Amino acid sequence: MALAFNNSISISYFLLPALLLLPFLIFLLPYNETYLTTPILNSFKLAEATATTPSPPHQLPLHGFASMYESSKVKATTVPKKKIRSSLEKIEEGLAKARAAIAEAIRSRNCTSSENNNDTFIPRGSVYLNPLAFHQSHIEMVKRFKVWTYKEGERPLAHEGPLNGVYSIEGHFISEIESDKSPFKAQVPGEACVFFLPLSVTSIGQYIYLPIRTMADYSRDRLRRVVTDYTGVIANKYPYWNRSKGADHFMVSCHDWAPDASLANPEIFKNFIRILCNANISEGFKLKRDIPIPEIFTTLEGLNPTNYGQGPKNRTILAFFEGRAHGFIREMLFKHWKNKDSEVVVRENFPEGLGYRKSMGRSKYCLCPSGYEVASPRVVDAIYQGCVPSILKGISNEKYLMMYRRVKQVERHFVLNRPAKPFDVTYMLLHSLWLRRLNFKA
Ligand SMILES: *[C@@H]1O[C@H](CO)[C@@H](O)[C@H](O)[C@H]1NC(C)=O
Ligand SMILES: *[C@@H]1O[C@H](CO)[C@@H](O)[C@H](O)[C@H]1NC(C)=O
Ligand SMILES: *[C@@H]1O[C@H](CO)[C@@H](O)[C@H](O)[C@H]1NC(C)=O
Ligand SMILES: *[C@@H]1O[C@H](CO)[C@@H](O)[C@H](O)[C@H]1NC(C)=O
Ligand SMILES: *[C@@H]1O[C@H](CO)[C@@H](O)[C@H](O)[C@H]1NC(C)=O
Repeated sequence: MALAFNNSISISYFLLPALLLLPFLIFLLPYNETYLTTPILNSFKLAEATATTPSPPHQLPLHGFASMYESSKVKATTVPKKKIRSSLEKIEEGLAKARAAIAEAIRSRNCTSSENNNDTFIPRGSVYLNPLAFHQSHIEMVKRFKVWTYKEGERPLAHEGPLNGVYSIEGHFISEIESDKSPFKAQVPGEACVFFLPLSVTSIGQYIYLPIRTMADYSRDRLRRVVTDYTGVIANKYPYWNRSKGADHFMVSCHDWAPDASLANPEIFKNFIRILCNANISEGFKLKRDIPIPEIFTTLEGLNPTNYGQGPKNRTILAFFEGRAHGFIREMLFKHWKNKDSEVVVRENFPEGLGYRKSMGRSKYCLCPSGYEVASPRVVDAIYQGCVPSILKGISNEKYLMMYRRVKQVERHFVLNRPAKPFDVTYMLLHSLWLRRLNFKA
């Protein structure tokens, strides 16, 4: 009875969340032989193309908010051409060594030992396409990856973001990467592999949009102007943006509006990497360029919620959903399942009273239908509670147990730590970025 989906709601809706999760997981495991060769070749093609075909000059207007970013502490630097070249050559040499080490790990089916490698976790098993390549790549990243954060921009629009709530991964990343303790922090821009624009879309929404009085106040113009102006300032002041046409520059945001931030001028932002929770392909998210990150709900009490996860045998609820009636998929879910079944528990209203996380901990599968946007902290909540974030019809107990074990296995990659720890969500974000950089030759 509980499994008789045939007559009602299409099963594909339940598969949606699993598909949404997929892009993030894929980036955990990008190395097989074809991946390593193809994208690197592609990026060489890109480098060739940019070298031979002069592209139209980038229009990087300096107006409006520009003066905001002129931090008095930062002197405009004119780095001599020769010096840029040699520091870049050094970085490229390091990246070439990393590519070779990863290729060698794939070939010899063994990781090269690394004297500095303190990893207590070793990726293994079929959730990874190639665990050895991934491990080697992680080792190389820890050894070589450096991120320069531009100093321009004033608080609160830049250099800080939300540290709790659904968008908090944005603020935590900014704070983590700017921290002197971060092993990834570049001390000078010359040693950086990638360049971070530390703008917070959530802060921009909060400080230059509120109060919103009319529909017109929602217009994304102000947001786009801030991001475009910031880019203009750094591209005029430093050689790095022009050098790669933005391809080694990135921003991180969990806010729903973030995909819109770089739409003002598609030509300028053609190569710019956006790391987004709201990774909706219909809203311009590009799988080859951008990076999806999970939305993680954190509270002031603690970064990660209490674990109520029971063992598989104690999970008496087959499938569980509790939430608000946001979006048409949930409307259909409620129409067919709300308060109707003891095995498929579907409840409206969240999170008061009924113990949303406790129920997840007692469920085998957690339904994660999208609400108004693609991103939802529910997927990560489900993983933390050991609940498989999808549902499949007529699945055997063995197959369920395999999925359960895999959820437990990937959990570490979704955990937020401060300071960040190897293989956690921050390291995975950086690792996705590291792979973009490995596949690109400046
Ligand atoms: C893998 O490398 C380690 C250390 O470099 C070595 O001890 C081990 O024997 C190697 N394993 C294989 C299967 O080659
Ligand atoms: C490994 O651990 C040693 C001793 O705790 C420490 O000095 C070193 O910096 C660590 N290396 C890395 C890459 O974390
Ligand atoms: C980068 O390119 C833009 C547009 O072509 C130009 O205005 C700017 O001065 C350049 N930046 C540097 C540092 O040369
Ligand atoms: C299952 O539930 C029983 C009774 O509440 C409890 O004693 C036991 O520890 C639970 N087992 C697991 C693996 O959670
Ligand atoms: C993705 O974006 C499109 C266009 O805005 C929207 O219609 C669609 O509902 C979004 N998808 C989800 C799952 O929210």
